[in-house]
Amino acid sequence: MDSKSKKTFNSFYSKEDFYYGLEVRPEFSEYFNDKALSEKVGLDLGCGEGRYAIFLARKGCRVVCVDRSKAGLDKLEEVGRTESLQISPRLKGIADFTFMENSYDIIVAATILDHLDNDLRPRIVEGIKSSLKPGGTLYANVFTVQDPGYRVKKAAPCSMESGDISDTSAFMTHYFEHDELKAMFNGFEIFYYYEGVEQDLSHGSPHAHGWASMLAKKPLDT
Ligand SMILES: C[S@@+](CC[C@H](N)C(=O)[O-])C[C@H]1O[C@@H](n2cnc3c(N)ncnc32)[C@H](O)[C@@H]1O
Repeated sequence: MDSKSKKTFNSFYSKEDFYYGLEVRPEFSEYFNDKALSEKVGLDLGCGEGRYAIFLARKGCRVVCVDRSKAGLDKLEEVGRTESLQISPRLKGIADFTFMENSYDIIVAATILDHLDNDLRPRIVEGIKSSLKPGGTLYANVFTVQDPGYRVKKAAPCSMESGDISDTSAFMTHYFEHDELKAMFNGFEIFYYYEGVEQDLSHGSPHAHGWASMLAKKPLDT
């Protein structure tokens, strides 16, 4: 499954266009748009072609980007070179990434916690909690049990159908329950939280996603 996922994302990212586009979720751009980020350090976990990292880096943030897709990181590096952005790609599985304590002002985990094996996910959540600086900001989004892919997965694990499910739904390891993302970061100050179902026209054939999306701060007194 891991190598199939890696191969598939590499093939998606090998095309000239950005597979997911360069647009980020509106809650993310709305929050960071007016922030001065030139002294900040970010971490984008499962960055893919790096749309979130590029957004932050264009605002002056130095961003460490982790993904196991070489094609995704190559594309991201090319943008970084062309625009002289401070981007540090790390080609590796997240399981092999070393989380240094209190190191990042911003951590992005966009559609990655739901792609990790069940035994790895809690370790990565602990890594995020520990490596975010006190007062630092986490942006995380995941697919939920409202996602059409969840129904398909329950009926037939890893099956793929065209139509209203995503072309990468076979690589989902876990669809989040109502409020599960919030509960994982219990103790953080959650200042934005959304759950809902939306159409996604950004990649593949038109499909729907059940989303949970969250912006949260690590408490200062940790
Ligand atoms: C759905 S994509 C999201 C990409 C990006 N975060 C975005 O929103 O555009 C999931 C990404 O996670 C990466 N990924 C999945 N499992 C991973 C793992 N165990 N280690 C590193 N990267 C992983 C895939 O290569 C892929 O680029």
